[in-house]
Amino acid sequence: MIDSFQFSPLPEILFGKGKRKELPAAARAIGTHVLLLTGSSSIHNSGHGDEIILGLEKARLQVSREVIAHEPSPGVVDRIAERFRGADVQVVVAVGGGSVMDAGKAVSAMIPVEGGITEYLEGMGGKEHPGTKIPFIAMPTTSGTGSEMTKNAVISEVGEEGFKRSLRHDKFIPELAIIDPEMMLSCPARLTATAGMDAFTQLLESYVSTRSNPMTDALALQGLKQIKRFLLRAFLEGEQNLDARSGMALAAMFSGIALAHAGLGLVHGFASPLGGFYDIPHGVVCGSLMAPVFSHTIDNLIDQPEHPALQKLIIVSKVFADFKYKKELEYLQAFKEKLIHISNLLEIPRLSEYGFKEEFIPKIVEHSSHKFHPVKLSVDQMSEVLRSRI
Ligand SMILES: [Fe+2]
Repeated sequence: MIDSFQFSPLPEILFGKGKRKELPAAARAIGTHVLLLTGSSSIHNSGHGDEIILGLEKARLQVSREVIAHEPSPGVVDRIAERFRGADVQVVVAVGGGSVMDAGKAVSAMIPVEGGITEYLEGMGGKEHPGTKIPFIAMPTTSGTGSEMTKNAVISEVGEEGFKRSLRHDKFIPELAIIDPEMMLSCPARLTATAGMDAFTQLLESYVSTRSNPMTDALALQGLKQIKRFLLRAFLEGEQNLDARSGMALAAMFSGIALAHAGLGLVHGFASPLGGFYDIPHGVVCGSLMAPVFSHTIDNLIDQPEHPALQKLIIVSKVFADFKYKKELEYLQAFKEKLIHISNLLEIPRLSEYGFKEEFIPKIVEHSSHKFHPVKLSVDQMSEVLRSRI
């Protein structure tokens, strides 16, 4: 029998080539004053930035603009929210990567309430957000976090006392997600690789998560098939291969829905302290740690052939296999090697390139969590995961 499960509402989704052109009418249907958040550069270099602003203005919308240059910190969100309190903003639109999505989601939630965002962050502030917000439209330009599908915004403070925490509420699911693969053609190769590895990690972690259900399984497996077909192509031919961009956009979207319902695993459990204490981009952490974490995960599950997570890892191993093998063990071994191969082909940087050192390992292991990972790794294994990427 299928175990009971629950599935939350999703944003309205407009997916496909050219769908960005529907933004002005969609925003106009909500209000007349738009707060537009964009990333720092690539959107403007691609020409899409001007096209979007012109489109909004043509629809007789008042457009206020803010640029988000990094993963959003409490300071950045508070400054923008403060500036627009009382400005009668009626719709917040975020056009950019995961950081811009998260910033937009957080700003739309913080404009209507008093105080700073830290007071409302999960596990930190102790204040409960009432869920009131300004309607929010998300339009991603990278295929990675899937934040356009989720009810949380990840907020980062980097430093000795750093953290990565979520502002979360059922009401924070965007009203509308416009996912147009043409918006991703100009995403640089390096960002395509790291964002793609974030989506890949989210799909695999939610697929084998202890909280997975038949709906997240269906989405995660379909997303993993898109990753197998399109991740390397998007990296190598990203400027002209719209099929690859489209497949990766779908994979990222599915990863967002899957993680929001099934939760994540140890790679993301490492990502919180690594991104909080040291300034390492989220996609780099995922791309770097995916192979070693899942290598140990397979090793720890291998003597439990009936374990549902091992059964799922065999299914994924077969999706990613380039050859036919006789034994399931051979598929699993090939998958472990494939993960290393993909990280190498995508030129995922080592953590040491961001200043990470051997002596930081105990602190990260201590602050990491397994989340919904299907099996525990020992402290030695966790240390080895980090050491292998220095
Ligand atoms: Fe992620």
